[in-house]
Amino acid sequence: MNTALLLKRTPVPSGNFIISCKKKEVLDAYLGTCVGITLVDEKRDTGGLMHILLPEPSGLSTIGRVENYAKTGLPVFIKALRDRIGERGNFSATIAGGALVGPVSELDLSLDIGGRTAEIVEKILKSERIPVVKSETGGHFCCCLSLNLSNWESFIKPISVPEERKNFPLEFPTMSQMEAAIAKIKPIPQIALKLMRMIQDDSYSMGDMGIEIKKDQIISAKVIRLCNSAYFRQNANVDSIERALVVLGEKRLLQLIVSASMEGFFSSSSGGYSLCKGGLFKHAVGTALISEKLASVNRKISTDIAYTAGLLHDIGKIALDQFMDNAYPLFYRRTQERDEALVSVEKELFGMDHTTAGGKLAEMWGLPERLVDVIKYHHHPEKSEHDPDLSYLVYLADLLMSRFIVGQELERLSTDSFHNCLERVGIEPDQLSKTIEGLSEIITNLSV
Ligand SMILES: [Fe+2]
Ligand SMILES: [Fe+2]
Repeated sequence: MNTALLLKRTPVPSGNFIISCKKKEVLDAYLGTCVGITLVDEKRDTGGLMHILLPEPSGLSTIGRVENYAKTGLPVFIKALRDRIGERGNFSATIAGGALVGPVSELDLSLDIGGRTAEIVEKILKSERIPVVKSETGGHFCCCLSLNLSNWESFIKPISVPEERKNFPLEFPTMSQMEAAIAKIKPIPQIALKLMRMIQDDSYSMGDMGIEIKKDQIISAKVIRLCNSAYFRQNANVDSIERALVVLGEKRLLQLIVSASMEGFFSSSSGGYSLCKGGLFKHAVGTALISEKLASVNRKISTDIAYTAGLLHDIGKIALDQFMDNAYPLFYRRTQERDEALVSVEKELFGMDHTTAGGKLAEMWGLPERLVDVIKYHHHPEKSEHDPDLSYLVYLADLLMSRFIVGQELERLSTDSFHNCLERVGIEPDQLSKTIEGLSEIITNLSV
């Protein structure tokens, strides 16, 4: 039996490192495009794991933490380890991650963020004379780099099907079962619908809303919990809606209320599409935050609309989630190992993909047209009828989520039109690193 499975596991979020002496614990970094490095000096019983987001700062000064970047962060990590033992030591390294984001041509190296990060890491280690004992970087796939602090073993594992989900009997829904599953989903809470329409018309005032929300104790409690969650990490402890309004401001509170009122639709288990507890909802909130941030860069779309569209883009998965429980290992193999698009495997095995199911649900709920459009076309934004700009923006946010936030949700997006997508959102390919820099705080909070 693998004894590492019984030890306490501590995730290392992006832009961070953890250094430790020998103890019964395993450090984990879930890596897509990010690069992870373990450094170990067995003799001196010291080691650590670092999770790096980007190769180097795009401008003269770093945005956010120096630990986000290989160039500025790795030297800090190495120095901290050496300071800890009071000498240079005899460290050896293991490197993993650095998967590709976007297709890469010779001329397009600026899109290969992971590859460039790994290159800088190797260069620095070489100049510090730290030998690399194992290195698995590049490719298209996500992995987990772990450091077992009890025996100093570093291991790289593809993120795979959890044991308990491996042996379900396979059974696929018929079209009528699928239609019944969609029809059975409860209606969207009136408050969420009201807020979405207010956001759509850009006509909200919080006065009456605050009173209405306070009447609904379940939503109030959810808003307060979300407000204190890692995603919306605030420095002040929020314990009431009034306090939330002061700390967050009107706009953010409004978004949180919409998020809280949608939370109940997403399963809180680690089954179905979720790879971790509540992964589908985490994916929704993460895509919402990234969409909002991209909208603030692109300025063609209101940030509130972008947030709501990001939050709702995958609601079709709510209907398909129950069928995914059994089919998950097969889906996993086909999407993650054979690189097939999730929507085409859904269509083949379920008879309907989550964008079609989501479109039906959105129409049934009477969501505003442009939101229905994003839900239907976020995997093929070129087909969008009402708001292609918004669909492209959510597609890009979704894609960045699937490459930088790993281990939450079963999502595999085709990067064939990545270049085109960047252009539509108004990001020059050589500005991609800068855009991700701007997202670094969100990515770190999401990867906790
Ligand atoms: Fe999707
Ligand atoms: Fe998604």
